[in-house]
Amino acid sequence: MNNLQKLLSLAREAAARAYCPYSHFAVGAAIESTDGKFYSGCNVENVSYPVGTCAEAGAIAAMIAGGSKKIANILIYAPSQTLITPCGACRQRIAEFAVPETVIYLAQTDGIDKSCTVGELLPSSFSEF
Ligand code: THU
Repeated sequence: MNNLQKLLSLAREAAARAYCPYSHFAVGAAIESTDGKFYSGCNVENVSYPVGTCAEAGAIAAMIAGGSKKIANILIYAPSQTLITPCGACRQRIAEFAVPETVIYLAQTDGIDKSCTVGELLPSSFSEF
């Protein structure tokens, strides 16, 4: 299994464990860090809706807790026919741990549909103050 297939498989497994009783929309995210480790996360909703967290946030938290510092590749998966892209907040979250050239793979039921870069999804991002 190559690294991209591994990311897809991890994101699929995470999405299958998503806690999404309110939206019924499962999302999984998987990261390969620059030190060659793999992490994943799923969305975790809450009865107080804004408290819910996205799959990307879970995967980034797992990466940081696991001791890795930077995203080399990230894949976002939803078991849907429609392609999903990271929400605005998650674009900013990803940018914090990536470079503009970092690749984001977008996948749905049929597999990986598209790839783009962090810079394409969040141009001119806020980075320093
Ligand atoms: N969601 C994610 O996990 N990642 C995204 O980038 C977009 C949306 C989740 C949040 C919520 O649990 C569900 O998808 C529906 O919006």
